[in-house]
Amino acid sequence: MTFHNLLISWYLQNKRDLPWRNTTNPYHIWLSEIMLQQTRVAQGTPYFLSFTTHFPTVFDLAKANEEQVLKLWQGLGYYSRARNLHKTAQHIALELNGKFPDNYKDLLKLKGVGEYTAAAIASFSYNEIVPVVDGNVFRVLSRYFDIETDIAQASAKKEFTALASELIPKDNPAIFNQAIMEFGALQCVPKNPDCNNCIFNNSCLALQKKKVDQLPVKSKKVKVKKRYLNYIVVTDEKNQTLIQKRTLKGIWHNLYEFPLIETEKEEDFNFVSNAISKTLFDKKSILSIMEHNEKSIIHKLSHQHLHIKFWGIKIKGKVDKGISPEELKTLPFPIVIHNFIEQAQIAV
Ligand code: ADE
Repeated sequence: MTFHNLLISWYLQNKRDLPWRNTTNPYHIWLSEIMLQQTRVAQGTPYFLSFTTHFPTVFDLAKANEEQVLKLWQGLGYYSRARNLHKTAQHIALELNGKFPDNYKDLLKLKGVGEYTAAAIASFSYNEIVPVVDGNVFRVLSRYFDIETDIAQASAKKEFTALASELIPKDNPAIFNQAIMEFGALQCVPKNPDCNNCIFNNSCLALQKKKVDQLPVKSKKVKVKKRYLNYIVVTDEKNQTLIQKRTLKGIWHNLYEFPLIETEKEEDFNFVSNAISKTLFDKKSILSIMEHNEKSIIHKLSHQHLHIKFWGIKIKGKVDKGISPEELKTLPFPIVIHNFIEQAQIAV
């Protein structure tokens, strides 16, 4: 028997009866897939039932207020999923007349819907032939075919998607996708899978080579440090500003920047105002302080994620060692600061 036939017949005998499996309603499938991201089935199921009871249609979800949605989501974590869910419901209700996009490409355009979720909805609801590739699929395929590609690498997704595209039967993509995920969740589990009682124990290459516990290969991600940088963009009465050179080794060595207040976490207006008057100017010489960007700009480096805010402060009189807007443009800045200078057209 072929891979897909064996897999599907296993699925039909072993699948769990889950509430989103008895429907092709894209609203229900979308809800379930968003809820099951980073969440176990046992934890997600009551939330799915509660959402479909409170909000039977996408219009009901769209009409709810955000607080209500977040409250029902409480305990499920990763709250941006709930906020995106709500926004997407409003988009579908108001702009798409309540009709979900009916193909992978258009589903991908929805906020909060990535490749995996788009493939799940497109196949489960519309039988589009697109494979789902999640952690379960990586595990099943890497073992069955003895693939040593590091699944932490971005390119792995492409490789496994191409392989799954060859395996997926054209006449039943939905069942195949459900089956491979279920097989990964119940049989081909990460630790101590029961390979003696497995439908693939004659053909699984990892089993033949005694490599089941070594696959999939997943390199440890380097730990990313978060830093919170508050740049103080001063303007004096001569329209001059202040900058400094980063002479310390490390990021942005020898580039210029505005005076910096680095904090342990994202800080609010009061905290930064106090810090400015403690370290840069006394309160009397400050005319005003404003937040240029309410949301931090997240600038990702390989080992650090920088959360950056720019604060504009106007001061009385003239700053010491001020520089003019013209001169500012001639000096080297990290790109994120350069972009700020260009976009904000700071009044210096
Ligand atoms: N995890 C993510 N999607 C799932 C689904 N449709 N069924 C079971 N587990 C899942």
